[in-house]
Amino acid sequence: MVIAPAPGGPRAVARCDALGVAPYSDTPGGLYRGYLTPAYGAAQAALADWMVQAGMVVSRDPAANLVGRYDGTDPAAPALLIGSHLDSVRDGGCYDGPLGVMLGVEAVDALHRAGRRMPFPIEVIAFGDEEGSRFPAAMLTSRAVAGTLPAVALDLADGEGVTLADAGADAGIDIARFRDAARAPGSVMAYLEAHIEQGPLLENEGLAVGTVTGIAAQLRYRVQVSGMAGHAGTTSMPLRRDALAGAAEMILAIERIAITDQSDVVATVGRIAGKPGAANVIAGHVDFTIDVRSGDPARRDCAADAILHEIRSIAERRGLGLQLARVHDLPASPCDPALMDLMDAAVIGAGQRPRRLVSGAGHDAMVMAALCPTVMLFIRCRDGISHNPAEHVDPADAEVALDVMLGFIDQLGASFAHA
Ligand code: GLV
Ligand code: MN
Ligand code: MN
Repeated sequence: MVIAPAPGGPRAVARCDALGVAPYSDTPGGLYRGYLTPAYGAAQAALADWMVQAGMVVSRDPAANLVGRYDGTDPAAPALLIGSHLDSVRDGGCYDGPLGVMLGVEAVDALHRAGRRMPFPIEVIAFGDEEGSRFPAAMLTSRAVAGTLPAVALDLADGEGVTLADAGADAGIDIARFRDAARAPGSVMAYLEAHIEQGPLLENEGLAVGTVTGIAAQLRYRVQVSGMAGHAGTTSMPLRRDALAGAAEMILAIERIAITDQSDVVATVGRIAGKPGAANVIAGHVDFTIDVRSGDPARRDCAADAILHEIRSIAERRGLGLQLARVHDLPASPCDPALMDLMDAAVIGAGQRPRRLVSGAGHDAMVMAALCPTVMLFIRCRDGISHNPAEHVDPADAEVALDVMLGFIDQLGASFAHA
């Protein structure tokens, strides 16, 4: 694929745009790129070409992450990993994930064109399932790399009933080897992720980039409510056990609990499906998700406990069956203070005042923190909009981010030389 020839931030943005349509999207007329889908494979193929052009040696690890390696003067030194994810949410924007990968490729491309090698290898890694939009778990592939993925976590099926093992086999990976993607402790010196902010703070302050201090803790549940399907015209109201009406009451309770917490706690029901799904049939079964987050894990857990308590009592009062499963639990993840200082210095070097901010969104960095120190750079996005086709990044901001990343890599090289 041929993309705007000028290398740098604008090309990174143009490449994300190019990946926003078929065959790099699994749906026509919008972007959805699920882990191990045909669109995922097509995006990996395009990215592999771009990595090769940037002077990298490309491989795919056992978790189907694409990795481009640019050796340093000491190939045995621990590597700097630069990455983000290639998958997207359903009907998502073009930059959440891919921009961090494309900027990593541009950073290496700049070093390569200048004939420069750092004292350490640089690897650009494109993770597979940060969003959890296909299988009911997120960040499987970064957890595999970080060595924190339990084998039981791989026993999953997507909404169509396709197991992760079968999807992997179709894409050429062996589920039995998935966790071999684990990097040896000490083999990675740091993980750097650039990402759109997905919030309005940088834009409000007129800043192109900011240094992330840490990532909020996340919890996700799957809730299954069962009632009794029945005739919508003949079943009198007192006799009903309506799973959808029960779920509606639960969803409003979830919203109320998060609002009345009056903190940074957020709770979301982002997906709901009712069965049998007909206008003249009372819903007998409803399946929905809950996502709860806070920068403070104790607050998150307290809100989640209150939510579960309320859901149980609604189900009991309405005579509904209830199954609750915790499908995702990630602790808050602070970024590394020394690397944040280097990032701030690089931001100043690029001509902007440093600005630190916390991430309410989850990122592969929060998983990679179990393996190595992490650092993140946020990039302004228009109106703070994300997880939406209207996501927009100014190519000039991507150029600032690239400048900062190159400055950061230089700073890291200097500190490496003095260590
Ligand atoms: C990923 O974007 C998440 O925060 O859920
Ligand atoms: Mn996202
Ligand atoms: Mn993301």
